[in-house]
Amino acid sequence: MAKKKTTKTSIKKATKKSTKTSSEDISDLEEVDQGEEVEEEQEEQVDQNEENDTAPEELAERSGIENTEDFGKASPFVVDSLNYDVKDLPGVGAATLKKLQDAGYGTLQSIAMTPQKTIMEDTGLGDKTTASIIQAARDTLHLTYVTADQVWERRKYLPRITTGSEKIDELIGGGVEVGGITEFFGEYRTGKTQLCHQLCVNVQLPRSEGGLEGRALYIDTEGTFRPERLIQMAQAKGMNVKDVLKNVFVIRAHTSQHQVLLVKNAIDTVSEKKINLIVVDSLIAHFRSEYISRGTLATRQQMMNQHIHDLIRLGNIYPELAIVITNQVQAKPDAFFGDPNRATGGHIMAHASTIRLYLRKGKGEQRIMIVKDAPHLPEGETVFTITEDGIGDA
Ligand SMILES: Nc1ncnc2c1ncn2[C@@H]1O[C@H](COP(=O)(O)OP(=O)(O)OP(=O)(O)O)[C@@H](O)[C@H]1O
Ligand SMILES: [Mg+2]
Repeated sequence: MAKKKTTKTSIKKATKKSTKTSSEDISDLEEVDQGEEVEEEQEEQVDQNEENDTAPEELAERSGIENTEDFGKASPFVVDSLNYDVKDLPGVGAATLKKLQDAGYGTLQSIAMTPQKTIMEDTGLGDKTTASIIQAARDTLHLTYVTADQVWERRKYLPRITTGSEKIDELIGGGVEVGGITEFFGEYRTGKTQLCHQLCVNVQLPRSEGGLEGRALYIDTEGTFRPERLIQMAQAKGMNVKDVLKNVFVIRAHTSQHQVLLVKNAIDTVSEKKINLIVVDSLIAHFRSEYISRGTLATRQQMMNQHIHDLIRLGNIYPELAIVITNQVQAKPDAFFGDPNRATGGHIMAHASTIRLYLRKGKGEQRIMIVKDAPHLPEGETVFTITEDGIGDA
C-alpha cells in the first residue's frame, strides 16, 4: 500500500459557545411534528451546504495509476491528495496561515471543501480573504467536472470493508464503502454497536481479505465501546489481539458539543494516525437527550446538520476513509400497517447517509438487515448473526 506521508497539519479548534439544553419535557410525538417542520425550514441550508461538498474525483485523474487489478488491491485513489501546502497558496502570509492552521485548516482540501461562512467563523478572516483563498485552493486542486467514466473508474476500485457476513457484504455491494457515510439504525440490541466493533477489527485486515490494513477511530457517545468484544472478534479471526487493540483509537464524547468538536478535530487525527474508519456510535443520542423542548429543536437540527457535514467533508478529504454512524428509531404515530419504526433525525439524517441500513431482531442470535436507502442498490434484506465471534452469516 503506497500511501505517501501527508503534509503536516497542526491545530486544535477553539471551543464553541455552549448550547443551552432544557429539561422541559415533551412527548416524542410532539418532537416528531416539530422536528419535521423545523427540518423543512432547514432544507435550504442543507442544500446550500451540499453544494460545497463536491467529491474530489479529480484526485483520480492525478493519481496516474492504471489499475487493471481485481478488487482487493490498493485502489488507484490512494494518492497523496494532501501533499500540497496551504502556505503555497497565493495571498497566504504568515498571519493568515497561522489563523487557518489554528482553526484546523491544514490542508487545501479542508479549505476547498468547507463553506466560506464556516471558515470565516472559525478563523476570523475577512470575506475577501477567505473567498480568494478558497478559490485558490480549488484551482490548485483542479476541482472541476469529471466525466462519468472517471467516476466509474473510481467506484470500480472503491475499497470496502467486509462486515464479517458474506450475505451483508453482498447486500450492500461488497462491504462498507469508503468516502461516504454508512448508517445503521434500529432498536436497542439489534447489533448496531456490534457491527461497529466488527468493522474496527475488519478494517485492519489485509486488502485481500476485505480490510484496508488501516486503523479505526471510535467516537463513543453512549459508553458502550467494549475492548473485550474486539478481543473476542480478533481471536476468532486469528489476528494478533495486541495489535488489533492498538489500532483502534477510542474517545468518549460527553456532550453533543464535545462530539461535534471531536469530529472537527478528526481532520488531523485521520492523517496523523492513518485512520481508515471513523465510527460515531451513536450520532444522535446526545442531540436527542439535550435538545428536548420545542424551543431548542431548531438549534438541534442546525447543529446536527453542521456536524453531519463535517463528517461528509472528512469523507471527501480522505478518499480512503469509511464513515459509519448509528442512529435510533422512533415509532411513527400514524402507522397502522407494517413496521412503525423509522430512523430519528428527520430529513437531515436521511440526506446525510450514503447508505441507510435498518436492523431488526430475529430469533435468538439472528438479526435482519434491510437496505432502506442507497443510491445504487436495490431494496433488499438478509439475515445475519451476532455470536461471541462477532458478525457472521446465519
Ligand atoms: N459476547 C457476545 N456474544 C454473543 N452475542 C453478543 C455478545 N455481545 C453482544 N452480543 C449480542 O449483541 C446484542 C447487543 O447488540 P448491540 O450492542 O450492537 O445493540 P445496539 O443495536 O447497539 O443497541 P443500542 O440501541 O442499545 O445501542 C446483545 O443483545 C447480544 O445479542
Ligand atoms: Mg449500541
